[in-house]
Amino acid sequence: MPLIVWDHSYSVGSPQLDADHQRFLDILGRVYDLWRQGQPDTVALNALFDELQSFTDEHFTREETALAAREYPVDLLLAHHEMHHDLKRRVVEFRTRHLSGQGPDRLTDEMIRFLKHWLLDHIMNEDMKYRPFFTQQRHA
Ligand SMILES: [Fe+2]
Ligand SMILES: [Fe+2]
Repeated sequence: MPLIVWDHSYSVGSPQLDADHQRFLDILGRVYDLWRQGQPDTVALNALFDELQSFTDEHFTREETALAAREYPVDLLLAHHEMHHDLKRRVVEFRTRHLSGQGPDRLTDEMIRFLKHWLLDHIMNEDMKYRPFFTQQRHA
């Protein structure tokens, strides 16, 4: 059973940003799959977190650029930027906490919750706010 199965209700109205979000769910699913196989391979887990963090930088930049191009209100864009900053900080903190010892910590329910919610809650609560800017015909 994958960690999160993509659902059309997750769509933010932009095929490119949806594809990015699907890639996130794929990376997070691979982290989960590796971690739950008993004794995870630290090198492989670190490589996945490298991929996750570099894709996080790439996606957040792409999303903010796309919002600016759609004339998303500046105050909302700034608030969104701050949330992205906080998400980056949280993933670094999670990685440091669970992957910096001799080996990774055992996968706990709390860690699974993080993997499930870290990005999906942001998509559903924050990214969804910009959906009308991609789905509605707007006039200048
Ligand atoms: Fe976002
Ligand atoms: Fe996003």
